Amino acid sequence: MAERSLEAERNDALLTWYRATARPFPWRSMRDPYAILVSEVMLQQTQADRVVPYFERFMTEFPTPRALADAPLTRVLELWSGLGYNSRAKRLRDAAAVVATDGWPDDVDGLMQLPGVGPYTAKAIASFAFGASVAAVDTNLRRVLSRWHGEELKPAALQAVAERNLGPDAAQWNQAMMDLGARICRPRAPHCDRCPVEQWCAGPGAYVPPRPQGRFEGSARQLRGAIIRHLVARPATFAALVESTGFDAGHVEEALYDLRTEGLVEPDGDRWVIAE
Ligand code: ADE
Repeated sequence: MAERSLEAERNDALLTWYRATARPFPWRSMRDPYAILVSEVMLQQTQADRVVPYFERFMTEFPTPRALADAPLTRVLELWSGLGYNSRAKRLRDAAAVVATDGWPDDVDGLMQLPGVGPYTAKAIASFAFGASVAAVDTNLRRVLSRWHGEELKPAALQAVAERNLGPDAAQWNQAMMDLGARICRPRAPHCDRCPVEQWCAGPGAYVPPRPQGRFEGSARQLRGAIIRHLVARPATFAALVESTGFDAGHVEEALYDLRTEGLVEPDGDRWVIAE
């Protein structure tokens, strides 16, 4: 009998582990591309456990791309509140509007034309909803694959290494890799003692990812979030926003400029409101 490749043996161990321990997230039993899009956009910024109730409320209120496309932005942001990165909610609604009118693109390149859909999300939709044989590589997969490989994989090599490792069921492989990255192959404190594929891995020292964003970006993001929360509840003057956020006027002005450029807020007389 022909010898099995290292990749095939490792995938067997990975998938056996995944089938025994997979977390039963609602989007994992769905093939509706819209549900996959909503879940993946939410999952870009928030831990999966926390996303579940947001996902369920969102899908109940906006079950189709048309329902989301027709919804007032204020209501969309209200349901998004707590997930952060409000511009993603706006772009998700923009993407729903395109799909409601034109239908779904059927390949990765077409999906990437949708607002807010980058290579990772396009590949996740292609594999989970359309059964395409593509690896959905995000920072978690990059970390896992780099550790398997034995050194940091640069973006140019990463997709090729991912495709070489991809098993015959891309959707299941992608989900299994996400779980491995989220639960075992953690950035700074990996649980190698519990890892199903440790024997086929160069170890976590092969790649230690850079630390996440610094304090300045964190506080700018915090300010943007505070402004949106205030305006979802009620319109506000500039002075009221300075007062309620506790940031200085210069920072509030900058944040409003950015939020306006992204189509999230707009002036209405002497007050700021959520854009329509
Ligand atoms: N993180 C990103 N996508 C995910 C998914 N589909 N399941 C769980 N965690 C994820």
